[in-house]
Amino acid sequence: MTTTLVDHTFRKDVKRCFENQTYAIPARWLYDLRGSELFEDITELPEYYPTRTETALLKENGSAFASAVGPKRAVIEFGSGSSTKTPHLLKAIDPAAYVPIDISGEFLEHSASLLQQEFPDLPIHPVEADFMKRVALPEAVADMPKLGFFPGSTIGNMIARTSVDLLRFMRETLGEGAQLLIGFDRIKEEQILVDAYDDSAGVTAQFSLNLLHRINRELDGDIAVDQFRHVAVWSDIYARIEIYLEAQSDMRFSIGENLYALSNGQRIHIENSHKYGLRDARLMLRAGGWTPLHEWSDEQDYFTLMLVEAHPYKHAP
Ligand code: AVJ
Repeated sequence: MTTTLVDHTFRKDVKRCFENQTYAIPARWLYDLRGSELFEDITELPEYYPTRTETALLKENGSAFASAVGPKRAVIEFGSGSSTKTPHLLKAIDPAAYVPIDISGEFLEHSASLLQQEFPDLPIHPVEADFMKRVALPEAVADMPKLGFFPGSTIGNMIARTSVDLLRFMRETLGEGAQLLIGFDRIKEEQILVDAYDDSAGVTAQFSLNLLHRINRELDGDIAVDQFRHVAVWSDIYARIEIYLEAQSDMRFSIGENLYALSNGQRIHIENSHKYGLRDARLMLRAGGWTPLHEWSDEQDYFTLMLVEAHPYKHAP
């Protein structure tokens, strides 16, 4: 995606938040360069269990993946970012090619070249694209069987209908007969969840507040970032952590030409992180056209990797 297009949609989304008083900004805007760095820091926090739990699952179940997936698939990773979990999968399964898809071009080239050093014989074809839509895959992998890879419980950022849309797009992108290995963060004790999104070192707060800094930097804003606090709450009915930025005083600020006001206590909703029961995850996958094949969970059931397949559509009995 070009920088100007990113600029334009970011501006539009931020404008809608304050002008139409939706007080919500899509979570994707958290990940500029600084945000991506802060997220990497989050993954190393003692309270943030998802990354280390999923990485351990990837390391420990290599031979089970290999027999379930079979050799010589093209691995297509959605939102590859720094591709830190990918080597574990690639080592396990004897892949024919690797296609990282990411919206951020710079990040993509860099991590692809690092991975190429680790896997000198593996054809790597990075694709800069928004994976929330159908993606045209490189010609080189057209005839290979596919394995989609969508780790991190990134799907948890989306509300249910967006998740189902995404799963259906992935099915179109990958084609019938494809498999998908996808990570789900599980429902667990509330305090563990809240702590994972409100860590004692305040890194997650910095990650959230960076969104306001980004607005100031990229959209010419003068928001008093220190007048906001990061809030993480568990919503049981939606089975998700909701993240807000809460104004700590009445305030006025400008973004470009526009002037806005916020009252003390007003919350801006910046992120959801949905959590799943096993049956929730299976039903969502089936709604998106994917048939469950295998599941791998850690001992505490904190996180689950699911392998699913795009079976041909069969009419209901
Ligand atoms: C990247 C969406 C998986 O929801 O756990 C972590 C993002 N936000 N801490 C998550 C996130 C605050 C993360 N995902």
